[in-house]
Amino acid sequence: MLFTQLFALGVALLAPAAAADDQTPYLTWMADTFIQDGVTPNYGYQVATLYLGFEKAYEISNDEKYLDWYKGQIDDHVVLENGTIKNWNYTRYVLDEYRIANNYLYLYDKTGLEKYKSAAKIVRNMINSTPRSPSGGFWHQIFFRNQMWLDGLFMAQPFYAKWTHRYDADNQTAWNDILLQYDLIETHARNKTSGLIPHGWADGQATWADPVTGVSPHVWVRALGWYFMSLVEVLQVFPTSHPGYEKLMSYFVSLAEALKKTRDVDSGTWWQVMEDPYPTYEENFIEASGSAMFTYGWFKGIALGYLPKEAYLETAKDAYTSIVKNFISEAEDNRLVLHGTVDECNLIGKVDLAYYFSRPIRDNHKNGVGPFMLASFEWETWAKDA
Ligand SMILES: *[C@@H]1O[C@H](CO)[C@@H](O)[C@H](O)[C@H]1NC(C)=O
Ligand SMILES: *[C@@H]1O[C@H](CO)[C@@H](O)[C@H](O)[C@H]1NC(C)=O
Ligand SMILES: *[C@@H]1O[C@H](CO)[C@@H](O)[C@H](O)[C@H]1NC(C)=O
Ligand SMILES: *[C@@H]1O[C@H](CO)[C@@H](O)[C@H](O)[C@H]1NC(C)=O
Repeated sequence: MLFTQLFALGVALLAPAAAADDQTPYLTWMADTFIQDGVTPNYGYQVATLYLGFEKAYEISNDEKYLDWYKGQIDDHVVLENGTIKNWNYTRYVLDEYRIANNYLYLYDKTGLEKYKSAAKIVRNMINSTPRSPSGGFWHQIFFRNQMWLDGLFMAQPFYAKWTHRYDADNQTAWNDILLQYDLIETHARNKTSGLIPHGWADGQATWADPVTGVSPHVWVRALGWYFMSLVEVLQVFPTSHPGYEKLMSYFVSLAEALKKTRDVDSGTWWQVMEDPYPTYEENFIEASGSAMFTYGWFKGIALGYLPKEAYLETAKDAYTSIVKNFISEAEDNRLVLHGTVDECNLIGKVDLAYYFSRPIRDNHKNGVGPFMLASFEWETWAKDA
């Protein structure tokens, strides 16, 4: 427990200010902080995740500066005037680089400029030739043969589903394919007792995979967070008439329930390595990005009517205020800081507990900030008064 206490104490010493109240506009404050600090544009999923927050900052404030900044990140740096993607490699299949196509579609909707749709189409075409495991699961990257990482479901499926919904709605092959990705994870990797899903599943051999089940050894909070967010995004566009819709809904609802049981009572947030007995280990720590993703998923699930308000609202509100209490502080120059996001964790090599516990913890990491901004949008627009 010592490390956790020191960590909590460190945050407390640096950050005496924060407490979630009804007045503080964390969403736009965070966006302003990133504009002030500057962001290097690229087509990776980290910036793509941050930009989701900017979409919400724009929506809540109607202030054009957020949209202009966002466009300025993409224009010329990522999407070129002729509708291609700068430095794109058409045979480098990396699901992480598909995620930003959601942002291309968003900018297309806001501006009507064809170049954004054209860039999104390039990513859609990549999906058709992305390498697959024997059961049909997308490899997480061309470099990781037959491996499905939970992160990848967030990187590829919501865009695949949005594109299909908008431009190809009668394509049953596409809908079945999207469903298949979830079915594979749920069938092979979900622990039916705890309801939790470990970081990845190999449809074959991998250094980190259990030789019998193919499952990775630990439940990593952010991978599960990506997965939870991906379900809430896909459900919004997946055809309700498709027999798979109810399955996807049950995957979402049962995970929402499992998250309730694993939330840490003392901090009100979630542990980095989630499954028993590791929450009690002294090297484990509560983690900001996963906590924000779960909280956002709950809020959005309630707002969309997927989750019963009676069962989730108070808990979700408590989770949000707990994130603010544990991780948010104000720094010099009027900057807002989200502490406590663990750095990237990959499924490469052995991937044991020591690996997860030794990863660095970052301030204002985009993977934490984007989901915090999404959760803040829900909080500021309705949840705080609900
Ligand atoms: C699009 O523009 C870029 C940059 O000017 C150029 O390198 C590329 O060849 C162009 N692609 C097409 C298909 O015109
Ligand atoms: C494109 O990606 C493939 C797969 O990683 C790689 O083999 C190839 O060298 C890359 N091409 C360029 C021009 O970088
Ligand atoms: C329908 O979806 C499948 C699977 O993604 C794809 O291979 C096919 O090209 C799509 N059909 C059309 C007409 O886009
Ligand atoms: C599934 O979860 C239960 C309850 O936490 C645990 O006892 C069991 O070992 C887990 N099974 C696997 C295969 O990890």
